[in-house]
Amino acid sequence: MSEIPTRTRIVIIGGGPAGSLLAHLLHVRGIESALLELRSREHVLERVRAGVIEHESAEILRRTGLGKRMDEEGFVHEGVNLAHSGEMLRIDFQRLTGKHVTIYGQTELQKDLFDVVDADGVPLIDEAEGVRVDGIEDHSPAVGFTRHGREHTITCDFVIGCDGAHGVTREFIPAGARRTYERQYPFCWVGLLSETPPIDDELIYASHERGFALCSMRNEHRSRYYVQGPADTTVEEWPDDRFWSELTARLPEAVADGLVTGPSIEKIVTPLRSWVSEPLRHGRLFLAGDAAHVVPPTGAKGLNLAISDVVYLVDALAGNYDRGSTAGLDEYSERAMARVWKAVRFSWWMTTMLHRFPGMSDDFERRLQKAELDYLFGSENAQRAMAENYVGLPH
Ligand code: FAD
Ligand code: PHB
Repeated sequence: MSEIPTRTRIVIIGGGPAGSLLAHLLHVRGIESALLELRSREHVLERVRAGVIEHESAEILRRTGLGKRMDEEGFVHEGVNLAHSGEMLRIDFQRLTGKHVTIYGQTELQKDLFDVVDADGVPLIDEAEGVRVDGIEDHSPAVGFTRHGREHTITCDFVIGCDGAHGVTREFIPAGARRTYERQYPFCWVGLLSETPPIDDELIYASHERGFALCSMRNEHRSRYYVQGPADTTVEEWPDDRFWSELTARLPEAVADGLVTGPSIEKIVTPLRSWVSEPLRHGRLFLAGDAAHVVPPTGAKGLNLAISDVVYLVDALAGNYDRGSTAGLDEYSERAMARVWKAVRFSWWMTTMLHRFPGMSDDFERRLQKAELDYLFGSENAQRAMAENYVGLPH
């Protein structure tokens, strides 16, 4: 790791996709920054998360020198499949919107990002503990932290919180100056990664009496599957056999016949929630990505929102340094949140339509859920609306 500076223009807290992409895009615009990460590099690189990159997110990665491995190793998907009541529907993105998505694991993107940040010469300070932010209402904020027992302070012009859902940065915004909106869903996802060929060339989202299931992939030899589980479940309650039989039961028979099972190489339980903290700015502190908003993974939007926040923020910071204009910084929160809320809506819609809600029998909600799916299966207009949101609304 390079020297820890005592002064820089921008201190970024959190080295996940939002923080490391921000550091790189600032470097491209000639703006110096330092990146603080709580965990070790190795830990950050091992986390298995997102898989779907929106059309415009991929374009941005390409334009900024991050497209090479994504284009070589990722997969272009021109549609996704929905399964319901034994039927399959293909949502044809290319025909309905002229766009597509790219399947490229967040783990791979994170590696590309750390590599480019290193090549840019941005100090990536990992194992930075106890981050504290002072003076965000003054001209020169300071960020303090401890690394391997030594105290450090970096002064800067702006502090950006990219420290994810469990981060601390937003807590430095006074409680009276922010508002939180939250929806907890009464179930979770159990995710399994296996060294097996994917069940299909494209993703399959399945709605079933037993609960939701999703078939995804990382490459020709590696599959990623999810099943809906109870809210309080644990990984221990999902030995591989139980997972595979539950997944099989939730897919149409003809599809399940093609499932290749194998030992899991990773398994997670992830709760589903929508959560937004507004605004994204207080004084010289800004928030981006999961530090400010979390969506349930059903719409595949979280990573993509981190990317769009960062693009808006880089524009705003460049306007400040290049032209001395604070207009972009003043508008950042409103501009980013307009896009975020549309993704919150889409993720809520997908989640509500496809999951089995505990206590939901043959009552009103269940009928509505069936009507929603029937409408989607029968209407090209409804399919176009889904496709437009899934490939990503314009930035
Ligand atoms: P994070 O990735 O959480 O990064 C935050 C970083 O900050 C971490 O490295 C963390 O260690 C660090 N940090 C935390 N606290 C501190 C601190 N105090 N000091 C310093 N550093 C700190 N999104 C999609 O777009 N498409 C998908 O297909 C998709 N699938 C998903 C599937 C699952 C199962 C899950 C769980 C998520 C999925 N997502 C998906 C969401 C996506 O993974 C997140 O939205 C994305 O990681 C957000 O990036 P981020 O950089 O904002 O936050
Ligand atoms: C994944 O591949 O991990 C994935 C894909 C689509 C989603 C969520 C996760 O909606």
